[in-house]
Order: sequence, then structure tokens, then C-alpha cells
Amino acid sequence: MSHERIAETFDEWAESGRAEGMERGHGDVVGQVVRQMGIRPGDQIIDLGCGSGWATRMLAKAAPGAGAVGIDVSRRMIARAEELHDLTSRARYEHGTFEALDFPDGRFERAFSMEAFYYAVDLERALAELLRVLKPGGTADVVIDRFEESVHTEGWSATVQLDMHFLPEAGWRSAFEAAGFTDVVTKRLLDSRGPGDEASFVPDAHCPDYRTRVELHEAGSLWIHAVKPA
Ligand SMILES: C[S@@+](CC[C@H](N)C(=O)[O-])C[C@H]1O[C@@H](n2cnc3c(N)ncnc32)[C@H](O)[C@@H]1O
Repeated sequence: MSHERIAETFDEWAESGRAEGMERGHGDVVGQVVRQMGIRPGDQIIDLGCGSGWATRMLAKAAPGAGAVGIDVSRRMIARAEELHDLTSRARYEHGTFEALDFPDGRFERAFSMEAFYYAVDLERALAELLRVLKPGGTADVVIDRFEESVHTEGWSATVQLDMHFLPEAGWRSAFEAAGFTDVVTKRLLDSRGPGDEASFVPDAHCPDYRTRVELHEAGSLWIHAVKPA
């Protein structure tokens, strides 16, 4: 899978308003993670696969003087993030890839990513870059909805027509440890709004029926927390 192919897909998503849908879909879980990250005043945070940048702005507002940079391979997503930017956020957005982050070593105290990391073209290289740009003692908080225990997500790669990593929870822990992270902990998070009621359920390519919707909800999102050794 090439970065160009990923960019083409997410350029289309940005054009068709799907970025706003992702904010609605991911907002509750991201809020839970951001509140638990304990972002400190002045922390500098990188948001990998920022899409329209709504989470980048949330991260930047989490503490006084904190700042966040969103990275995305889709130029249309970056343009959408610029359009939606509010001037009170110390957030900015840059075109780039997980595999070649254009930042010096140790630039960030925190790294965050929502529903993006399994698209990595080269997962080993992306994890090495994530580790490199963190300061010693810095933390990574990566959240994904597609993992082996969430069985209904296996077909997403075919639906979206992009390659995606599909690892079990333990496999994600091992990948972070192999990259050099320590204190790697995983946790499942449930959307506090629940699966929604059956009467208002609308099927789509990811979720053809209400039962699947409930099971996807119950599998939750996978939160991987990891530390760069001091
Ligand atoms: C499903 S969207 C999630 C966007 C955002 N985090 C959110 O929750 O709304 C995944 C994003 O990751 C970006 N992406 C995927 N693979 C990437 C890579 N290798 N390098 C940089 N960005 C990538 C895509 O362009 C896309 O905007």
C-alpha cells in the first residue's frame, strides 16, 4: 500500500464530509483518553493521522500553554483542519507521514493518535519514528478501533480497499515493546453513549445490522499507552 493511495482515499473522505462524521463517532472515546492523559502545562503533543484536526485542537486546549501539531498524509484533510481551526487553539497541522516525521529527536512530550495507526505503510518504521520524536520519559497514547478481538472489523480493509494491520491486543503490545517502548499497557474503552437504539440504527458498509452495531460497541476501542524510556 502506498501513501498516495491512502491520501487519495482520505482526500475523498475530506471532500465528502466524512471527517465531521469521524469527529461525531470518535469524540466520546477521545475525550475519555485526553482527560486521562494528564497533559501538563506547556506539553508539546503530536497527533498522528489528525484528519480534520478536531482532536489536535482538543489536545492543545487540555492544559495552559500546551501545543499540538497534527500530521496527516491527506492534503485535503490538512486543508479541512486549517478551515476548522479556531484561533484560540495552539494547534497547527502539517502534511506528512508516520514513517518520516519531519521533526527533530525528542521534540514532543506526548504523542496521540486516533483510529489511524493501523494504516501505517511500514508499522516498524512508524513506531521507530514515534519513539524518536518523543522526549525520554514521553508517552504515546494510540487508540484504534480495528483489532482482532473486535471481530466485525476484519472486513474493513476490503470495504475501504486499503491495507490495514489487524493485530490482537497482545500483538499491539508486543509491537510497541519491540520498538523500544516500556510500560506498555492496553485497555478497552467503550463509548459512553452506548450503541444507540435500534429504531434509529442506519446500516452502512461497516455495520450491516443492529446486532453487529451492538457487538462493535461491546468490543470497544483499543487504547495503547506506552512510555519512551527515560
Ligand atoms: C480514519 S482517519 C482518522 C482521523 C482522525 N484521527 C479522527 O479521528 O477523526 C485516519 C487518518 O490517518 C491518516 N493516515 C493514514 N495513514 C497515514 C500515514 N501512513 N501517514 C500519515 N497519515 C496517515 C489518513 O489520511 C486519515 O486522515
